[in-house]
Amino acid sequence: MAESNTQKIEWPNDGVSRIPYKIYTDPDNYDDEQRRIFRGPIWSFVGTDQEVSKPGDFITTYIGDTPVIVLRDLERKVQVIVNRCSHRGNLICIKREGNSEELTCVYHNWRYDLQGNLKSVAFGKGVGRKGGMPDDFNREDHGLQRLRVAVYQGLIFATFSDDVAPLTDWLGDEMVENIDRVVGRGMVLLGTYSQYMPNNWKLYMENVRDSYHASILHMFQATFRINRLSMKGGIKLSDNGWHHISYSIAETDREEDQYDAKKLRAVKDGYTLADPTLVKGWREFECGTTLAIQSTYPNFVVQQISNSLALRLCLPKGPEECELLWWVFGTPEDTNEQQEIRIKQSNMIGPGGVISMEDGVVGGWIQRGTKRDHEKTTIVQMGGRDVAPSAEGRATEVSIRGFWQGYRDCMGF
Ligand code: FES
Ligand SMILES: [Fe+2]
Repeated sequence: MAESNTQKIEWPNDGVSRIPYKIYTDPDNYDDEQRRIFRGPIWSFVGTDQEVSKPGDFITTYIGDTPVIVLRDLERKVQVIVNRCSHRGNLICIKREGNSEELTCVYHNWRYDLQGNLKSVAFGKGVGRKGGMPDDFNREDHGLQRLRVAVYQGLIFATFSDDVAPLTDWLGDEMVENIDRVVGRGMVLLGTYSQYMPNNWKLYMENVRDSYHASILHMFQATFRINRLSMKGGIKLSDNGWHHISYSIAETDREEDQYDAKKLRAVKDGYTLADPTLVKGWREFECGTTLAIQSTYPNFVVQQISNSLALRLCLPKGPEECELLWWVFGTPEDTNEQQEIRIKQSNMIGPGGVISMEDGVVGGWIQRGTKRDHEKTTIVQMGGRDVAPSAEGRATEVSIRGFWQGYRDCMGF
């Protein structure tokens, strides 16, 4: 249990079923999240091992708002290193990606190897024996900060914590099973993109877990009946409630055929898609799962929506902004046609996606709506007030309550 929180946020008495609006805007609370959550007892997704497939490959990203470098060292080991020079704190790596045999800071040319050891200090001995570093300066004491790393099914995670359980234990069996199912055949990256959103990162993570809104906010889904709350499905939660999977299963071929373009008709008005191949798909999973949205605490998502497979990471960029990174992928067994289908289906999701572009704006609307009423709260009571899995369908906000359970555990509220 985290040390108790002494901030001036009053947590209502309704457990995790009422959330104070202040939590989405307060700058002090935002700082506290960086320390207690993102540097706390969690594993953060930072990228895929394909992005750093060769020795020397690196990408730069963030854990919370701390910049990190993800790289493969010359011994082929994946390293995650805080992107901050030991000298005066400059970003060591200012490129998004690349390949290099060492890390060199542009400011004063301190050089580090790919395990973060400080190898040389420019003019360390001064010029003509004048100046230079003091005699007691030890390079060994000034390496870069290296984090604990775990790679599972090609997904790279890192943590600041020495205490958090090994990654797969921390995720739990059900979460691991879904990762195996969606990612375990191997990933072929089809593309990446990102979107900036004018809202607190937690509003997006609530949205991801919100199975209640899918057929209401997203008119495309409702109009073409792509996915209905009445389909068989439910919510899985990890034992501590922190991670979730919301899923639906086609029970009949007719349901699965919803993705068959020729049969797709609007419920009302009778109109059809100009390009019906947009929703063309195939039965990919034996279990009949047509949709599974998984989030691992706090900000990572594994998506299967029909044949559209993607990873998402929501990075906080201050109390009222966030950036959502997307990785769209297929498998090594895909035929060319299947790969085309995946790419096409990915047009239904994402910032311009016909199904879910609304998810990119609704957080900003909430941010505006709640900005000045910090003492008021949301109501997260659909399906009850508790945090327990639901095999009884998805008309529930239980996975959002699970998120807040994780939040309170970390933040000490
Ligand atoms: S800040 Fe990096 S070498 Fe000076
Ligand atoms: Fe949505």
